[in-house]
Amino acid sequence: MRERPIALVTGASAGTGSEIALALGAAGHDVAITGRRTEALEELAGQLRGQGADALVLTVDVRDATALDQAMTRFLEWSGGRVDVVVNAAGTTGPLSPPIGEFSVADFDNVIATNLRAPFIVLSRLLPIMRAAKGGRVVNIGGNHGMRGRAGRSSYSASKWGLRGLSRSAALEAGPDGVTVNYIAPGPVAVPRMKAAWRARAEQDGVSEDEALTRYVANMGIPLGRPSEPSDIVAMVLYLVGPGGRNITGQELVIDGGATL
Ligand SMILES: NC(=O)c1ccc[n+]([C@@H]2O[C@H](COP(=O)([O-])OP(=O)(O)OC[C@H]3O[C@@H](n4cnc5c(N)ncnc54)[C@H](OP(=O)(O)O)[C@@H]3O)[C@@H](O)[C@H]2O)c1
Repeated sequence: MRERPIALVTGASAGTGSEIALALGAAGHDVAITGRRTEALEELAGQLRGQGADALVLTVDVRDATALDQAMTRFLEWSGGRVDVVVNAAGTTGPLSPPIGEFSVADFDNVIATNLRAPFIVLSRLLPIMRAAKGGRVVNIGGNHGMRGRAGRSSYSASKWGLRGLSRSAALEAGPDGVTVNYIAPGPVAVPRMKAAWRARAEQDGVSEDEALTRYVANMGIPLGRPSEPSDIVAMVLYLVGPGGRNITGQELVIDGGATL
């Protein structure tokens, strides 16, 4: 049996997921990380090992249900059947602006398979194990589009609302066994993907990056006047999986500078 607690983080090859994985490693977990980009995952695994954590790279497209299930089998072989923390962070926005009628069913299915069905498959394998062990923490990374609608984001919003329902239902099922399941709802987070989009918008509008960000924040109606940093999301994950999260379950923790008020 492994001595260090075991965490699984999906969507760890980039952005918030990679920061969450590193923080869990630094907090004493051995960490399994998933994504499609093996090179990025191997680099992160090297960083985790440098922190003294054991790391397992699982290259998998989470839209492939069979491959994801097989990845969970590999994960459980590696962990010796121990599962302490599961963070479902893999996600996609899908196409950004087509209205319903122009948004293809194939694109809709891709977004739902990534953002909603994949966490269901992961939990289908791991939640029973956590329940049998009488403990564990699940954190699903949703989005504030799971708290509201947005024109041009029908599939993304639907997937994140769905993940809320999945999280609450899982919390009800697993609560009696001491397992918590929570949902974090970030607004815009300054990950490399978003920063690139803001840079492109600045070039397109012929303004400075600062000005482009100011306009974006105003357009999104963010009272605190800034996007989140990945560290804002990481801090909440660490709280939920730490002692402070012991009696918190089925909650939606919105981290968006007040955008959905
Ligand atoms: N950034 C934001 O502004 C923001 C706002 C609200 C919510 N969120 C949510 O936060 C989570 C992380 O987003 P992020 O922006 O920090 O990260 P990101 O830079 O968009 O990276 C997404 C991660 O998900 C993985 N992923 C996507 N599709 C996948 C697939 N089909 N199979 C396997 N892995 C897949 C990617 O890995 P590969 O590319 O290697 O496959 C990558 O590791 C997502 O659930 C996102 O919806 C983000």
